Amino acid sequence: MAGAVLVTGGAGYIGSHACVALIESGHEVVVLDNFCNSHPEAIRRIEEICGVAPVTIQGDIRDRALLDELFSAHNIESVMHFAGLKAVGESVEMPLAYYENNVAGTLTLLQAMDSAALSSIVFSSSATVYGDPASVPINEHFPLAPTSPYGWTKQMLEQVLTDWQRVDDTRRVALLRYFNPAGAHPSGRMGEDPQGPPNNLVPFVAQVAVGKRDKLRVFGDDYPTPDGTGVRDYIHVLDLVDGHVVALDYLQTHPGLHTFNLGTGSGVSVLEMVQAFAAASGRDIPYEVVDRRAGDIAECWADASRARDLLNWEANRDLAQMCEDTWRWQQGNPGGYR
Ligand code: NAD
Ligand code: UFG
Repeated sequence: MAGAVLVTGGAGYIGSHACVALIESGHEVVVLDNFCNSHPEAIRRIEEICGVAPVTIQGDIRDRALLDELFSAHNIESVMHFAGLKAVGESVEMPLAYYENNVAGTLTLLQAMDSAALSSIVFSSSATVYGDPASVPINEHFPLAPTSPYGWTKQMLEQVLTDWQRVDDTRRVALLRYFNPAGAHPSGRMGEDPQGPPNNLVPFVAQVAVGKRDKLRVFGDDYPTPDGTGVRDYIHVLDLVDGHVVALDYLQTHPGLHTFNLGTGSGVSVLEMVQAFAAASGRDIPYEVVDRRAGDIAECWADASRARDLLNWEANRDLAQMCEDTWRWQQGNPGGYR
């Protein structure tokens, strides 16, 4: 029987949805998570949805001894690597914590994979590696120019993985550059569970709709976009994780290093998101326009044709579904997993 997939960060927002997608497509899953930004209840919800609990190890990707033990105790065949810190603003305040956790942590993971002779990894990169793009849509050949320590960890790790793959042509690496993940599992049982005030638009809007926050602050309406507010490529988390499952399959037959944008290919403004969420929830979303947020770009959306052509993957869930699923999760779990 084929070996299991190690999912690092499998209790997190995207990792937990990936566990469900992997289990539903017949994979055995082992989760490694230190729960620094997640809750064990997420694992219980995976079991609730799938009827099977992933083997779960509480621990850190920087713990080499633990990784060696894990690889010898479990028949792991490949790794989906989500574990990492992801808050852009926090990374500016605490760069060393980000380089230590994300970069050093991934180096330790790769060293342990080497020792265990594992050769296949799917890595969570981000559209943030493109920085402020010269034009949209953004394809995979655009220059990389991250603007935060968080973004630099992603670019550095792309380079590390590129060099690691070059050593041995049987190694397999997928670098998946996510645009803006949003939405939740349609069951309403699994979703994004930010600690403290959300940094990201969709969870913030959801908390306004449910009455947990009184209004949204729209960061600027003087961008050179149709309504003046920032435009992003929001992708349903279920489409995103489907992209991971097909990328993992692709690696089976295509050794080498493969980079894919995972986005929908179209942009949505802040005000369009507010409108869509109000429609999905039937609630008012009060907002006020405030100054631009430092470091924000005007617009960003993907040219996702490479993933379509090579992986036969496309995002097919629309904005309404993204908002409906987020709303179901938010209403049913106003305090998240806690
Ligand atoms: P998340 O914080 O919900 O999940 C990350 C998980 O990793 C958490 O469960 C956390 O406890 C765990 N973790 C962190 N450091 C760890 C360590 N050293 N050892 C073990 N576990 C550790 O974040 P997410 O939104 O699910 O993001 C997953 C990945 O996707 C991250 O690498 C993130 O940078 C990347 N990404 C996210 C977005 C986004 O907007 N959510 C966009 C682009 C890329
Ligand atoms: N926005 C608001 N008010 C808020 C939050 C966001 O107006 O309270 C606006 C932003 O200005 C931006 C849009 O909503 O125009 C989206 O903002 P998010 O913070 O949701 O997303 P970003 O595109 O800024 O950042 C996301 C991830 C980063 C990643 C980046 C690039 O959070 O980790 O995409 O991929 F680096």
